[in-house]
Amino acid sequence: MCGIVGFIGQKDVKNVLLTGLETLEYRGYDSAGVAIYTNNEVIVYKDKGRISHLRQVIGEDASTMGIGHTRWATHGVPNQVNSHPHTSQDGRFTLVHNGVIENDDALRCKYFAELKFKSETDTELVVELLSYYVNKYTQVDVAIRHMMNRLKGSFALAILDRDNPDVFYVVKNKSPLLIGIGDGFNMVGSDAMAMLRETNKFFELNDKEYAIISRDKVEIFEITGAIIKRDYFESSIDPNDIEKGTYKHFMLKEIDEQPFVIRRILEEYQLNSHLYIDENILSLVRSADRIFIIAAGTSFHAGLIGKQLFEKLTNIPVEVYISSEFVYNTPILSISPLFIFISQSGETADSRAALVKIKSLGYKALTITNVKGSTLSREADYTLLLHAGPEIAVASTKAYTAQIAVLSILAYLTNPNNTFDLQHELSIVSSVLETLCDQKEVVEECARELLPTTRNCFYIGRHMDYFVALEAALKLKEISYIQTEGFAAGELKHGTIALIEKNTPVIAIISQENINLNTRSNVKEVKARGANTLVISLKSVSADGDQIVIDDVHPLLTPLVTIVPIQLMAYYAALHRNLDIDKPRNLAKSVTVE
Ligand code: F6R
Repeated sequence: MCGIVGFIGQKDVKNVLLTGLETLEYRGYDSAGVAIYTNNEVIVYKDKGRISHLRQVIGEDASTMGIGHTRWATHGVPNQVNSHPHTSQDGRFTLVHNGVIENDDALRCKYFAELKFKSETDTELVVELLSYYVNKYTQVDVAIRHMMNRLKGSFALAILDRDNPDVFYVVKNKSPLLIGIGDGFNMVGSDAMAMLRETNKFFELNDKEYAIISRDKVEIFEITGAIIKRDYFESSIDPNDIEKGTYKHFMLKEIDEQPFVIRRILEEYQLNSHLYIDENILSLVRSADRIFIIAAGTSFHAGLIGKQLFEKLTNIPVEVYISSEFVYNTPILSISPLFIFISQSGETADSRAALVKIKSLGYKALTITNVKGSTLSREADYTLLLHAGPEIAVASTKAYTAQIAVLSILAYLTNPNNTFDLQHELSIVSSVLETLCDQKEVVEECARELLPTTRNCFYIGRHMDYFVALEAALKLKEISYIQTEGFAAGELKHGTIALIEKNTPVIAIISQENINLNTRSNVKEVKARGANTLVISLKSVSADGDQIVIDDVHPLLTPLVTIVPIQLMAYYAALHRNLDIDKPRNLAKSVTVE
């Protein structure tokens, strides 16, 4: 994972780099560094810790060019030596890297058997390889091409050459990288958000391409050295979307944005006042005899709801797979399957590996993602966007609800015989979400009573509520570090109930008429064994004593509303424990390693 930036031009380079890196901290935040070009020298500042720490250790030197990195460790523990940038031992090249070099060991043995490397990173191999080829072929661009041909794996690189104060180089394969263009400056970043404060004009860089960036020119090349002519695009992301505003945490801001996200989706998927999706996509879905949904983490949980929506609204059978499992344990496929990839970031390496696999088998794929132009979007045949706005907090919230909303529209439009008014039902959802977001104190109080010191917790539910319980458990554990499991309520008594003891928190979700009484019996069973219980229910199935009661929505859309108190519960549990909510330990927002 990791995030990279680079800048050349007349500005406060260090500040541009550090501000860009702060935006990229969602990609990793265990160490950080910058290299700046000053007085014909490249000076590196790097250390374990966050960008805020780097700001304190960085020097005063003025500069017109630099590169920076925020790290999520893959090769070697987070420490000063392993932090990027890395410099070749002859001192000429300094670079930052996002990705994983798969043939690191083989290349070390082949070219550098005698060399004593300073760090444990695969990146140091890259900078030495570049220096090796420059010694052999003299020209840096020729050396870059040789290096690209040798490296296997994922690599987005930004490279400074001590002997050239006028340009820096970037290279891309599999890891994301965009070039930002400005007046009197140019820059690069792992995503557009890292550059939005400076520019909203970007060049895309594709896999196996490199570029030479100067103050007033960007030249993009194929790996063969052939120059590429490419049009720039303008980003429509509002820079305010990447600020916290008056919120203490992005997570709370993003939870609060959910009513607007549903409304925006209704606007984006509308034509002549009716719900609309491109007919090519709808016929693709209609022609499928089976849908395979592939995703990871929260997106996988949205996929489980997607299965219910498709099967109930279209009658097409659906299987849902965890991306990393699908690749190595591919199921028997049907005659005309359709593959739907769900990914907030569009960059998840596990999902991409599955996409590459199904494309190699000649099948069609549709990606549902929040990020236009992301890898999973570019490599699939079709894309549906979530229109949720940038999601910055590591814990996914608004992307989950957006994924379910988009899936519901797709399933609904696939079958022209659906008679209920989904547009109307989704606008009811939006209003209910607004009411829920206005009642945070109720949830905060529940979190304070139920979860202040507990080490474990259970979420239970049946049918739709079971799938929400899985997402609920992920949300709570990832930011509060409370060990939490989501269970099918009826399954508890087949083993797991042994874990229930005095004061174990058990939270039940009840949103459907047909499971109401059964789940309530399960609540009684755990209560009789000492559990501290809490019930989140919909009004029509609520009972006296339920702590959180939500206004009714269409039975197929209940996950869109039951999830909100659950997201808030996780938020407040982490807040009460004084934890780093937006950047939980060991996690990164965009998981670009398998
Ligand atoms: C949890 C979370 C992760 C992601 C997962 C997949 O809050 O955000 O579980 O859902 O890493 O990421 P995307 O959706 O970007 O493919």
